Amino acid sequence: FNKNYPFYTSSSKSMILHFKKYAKWIKKKLKKNASILEIGSNDGTFLQNFKNYFHIGFEPSKSVHDVAIKRNVKSINKFFNLQNINFLIKKKIKFDVIVGSNVICHIPNQNNLIKTMLKLLKENGKIIFEEPYLGSMYKKISYDQIYDEHIFIFSVNAINKISKLFDLELIDVLEQNTHGGSMRYVVGRKNVRTVSKNVENILKREKNLGQDTLESCIKFKLNCEISKKKLVEKIQSIKSRGKKIAGYAATSKSTTVLNYCDIGTNYIDCIFDTTKEKIGKYSPGKHIPIISYDSFYNQLPDYAYLFAWNHKEEIFKKEKEFINKGGRWISHVDI
Ligand code: TYD
Repeated sequence: FNKNYPFYTSSSKSMILHFKKYAKWIKKKLKKNASILEIGSNDGTFLQNFKNYFHIGFEPSKSVHDVAIKRNVKSINKFFNLQNINFLIKKKIKFDVIVGSNVICHIPNQNNLIKTMLKLLKENGKIIFEEPYLGSMYKKISYDQIYDEHIFIFSVNAINKISKLFDLELIDVLEQNTHGGSMRYVVGRKNVRTVSKNVENILKREKNLGQDTLESCIKFKLNCEISKKKLVEKIQSIKSRGKKIAGYAATSKSTTVLNYCDIGTNYIDCIFDTTKEKIGKYSPGKHIPIISYDSFYNQLPDYAYLFAWNHKEEIFKKEKEFINKGGRWISHVDI
């Protein structure tokens, strides 16, 4: 999360739309003079929907923070932690809503994080966050959710327990399709708000599936090994027919697949990506060259490995020509 951080939320049209709908959902319950703070506000994709509200985003990565500023979003180029919120404490500013999307799971020190949120949350304020969901990862065997920045993969059970440790209460949970299956959590101070039936329902479902047990982890591990074997066999069969494979989107997730399955330039020639910071660089560990998406149709592969499988609807819609020209998609998850 430095000055060259290369993940721009707005690189996906469906994510822009998702954040617009998400903002509308929050605004329905907000008073006109309400205040909102976003942790890891990236390029301002979400907060730009709150320009008429008192809003602040904390974004440590300068590359994306600069874009937010250009979009007239109030962004602080700092990490969100106890050390960096003094300017708000001094002015006695508190928030009705504290939001985070795909960021809470990136933060190693959850203790510091929650204490920081509590200092800035109004008595009846809400903490709302969306993160990749453990249940979806288990179901889809999407082990590529496990990578360097993803310190945690939360379950409802985990968030429920963490909330209690801080005199907070999990008041609602809503399943989301984003990032291959996420969960939206709504947390408030204890005994302030009514708890939705959704919480009990999903807690029960997790219990019935045994997702709070070590056995479920072991089963997941075995499923990953089977998935890896199948993928390598599929790729070897494609290569034995003399076909060309290229990667589509140099995602963070792809790092896990490539290294875990030992897939390098012997199988995949290059990865096409739309992010300027990534072009001319190499995939971590396996050193597959990343080239500009602009040349995708000039260098068409026979097979494109969909590393951004979580954006498949958007990508399939955009790439009909690839299929018309005889191209095929592959991935380690069902697409
Ligand atoms: P995402 O799955 O959101 O990322 P991550 O696993 O890194 O969290 O994908 C973001 C990357 O995918 C980013 O490098 C841009 C690239 N991308 C494309 O190249 N083309 C596309 O159509 C989309 C949606 C993403």
